[in-house]
Amino acid sequence: KDFKDQMIIDAGQKHFGAIICKSCGMIYTAASPEDEAQHIQHHQRFLEGIKYVDWKKERVVAEFWDGKMVLVLPDDPKYAIKKAEDVRELVDNELGFKQIVLSCPSKIKTYFFVSNERKIIGCLIAEQIKQAFRVLSEPNVPQSPNQDVLQHHRAWRCSIKPEAAICGISRIWVFSLMRRRGIARRMVDVVRNTFMYGCYLSTDEIAFSDPTPDGKLFATKYCQT
Ligand code: ACO
Ligand code: ZN
Repeated sequence: KDFKDQMIIDAGQKHFGAIICKSCGMIYTAASPEDEAQHIQHHQRFLEGIKYVDWKKERVVAEFWDGKMVLVLPDDPKYAIKKAEDVRELVDNELGFKQIVLSCPSKIKTYFFVSNERKIIGCLIAEQIKQAFRVLSEPNVPQSPNQDVLQHHRAWRCSIKPEAAICGISRIWVFSLMRRRGIARRMVDVVRNTFMYGCYLSTDEIAFSDPTPDGKLFATKYCQT
């Protein structure tokens, strides 16, 4: 029939029998034992990773109707650092980052968004930086298949002129089932307010490093408004 019908049919087949787990968010095929085994493994590791047990000493930097934000600094107690490392590992896994060393572990600030159900549903890792290269916006033309490939390789065009920046966002992540509720936006707002004592950073003073397609869509929108 027409092209549109075909697309729907294809999409339907691709996701035939697919289930989305309501607690860990993984999409898998229940009919496949392999998939199911993989899900069980991911499920436990993920839920354990995002579990938040109220800490004796926690640095709450913001409170919202649907949760709170907690900041972890490099000199914090071991349990807090351990949690920051565990969550970073989960996030890196999802982003496909492999053992990326942080440029300066003693300077990083880890922000968690903790839900009222005590789950870490958002994480932002910020570092102090001196300069950044602006990602140039793509010309607004219909995308060729070739450009699509480029997008998946994260080959953004960057300016060659470094600009002064203060805060580099090296990771930003929100739990898949909690996206598009303004959690990332609120996390960045709070970072701008708490990263440097006594000042509110402008969007020019923050930089997103190596953004994913999701990250780029978010950052573009965030910095415009
Ligand atoms: N597609 C289009 N627009 C988007 C998207 C998207 N996927 N995500 C955010 N936006 C825009 C929207 O305009 C949105 O406002 P709206 O929902 O009212 O339209 C606005 O940004 C604010 O979005 P939030 O709800 O605050 O963003 P969210 O909490 O969903 O988190 C994030 C965005 C962190 C990118 C999330 O999609 C995610 O965790 N993705 C997977 C991990 C990832 O790729 N992280 C970025 C890595 S790059 C880096 O870390 C430097
Ligand atoms: Zn699950």
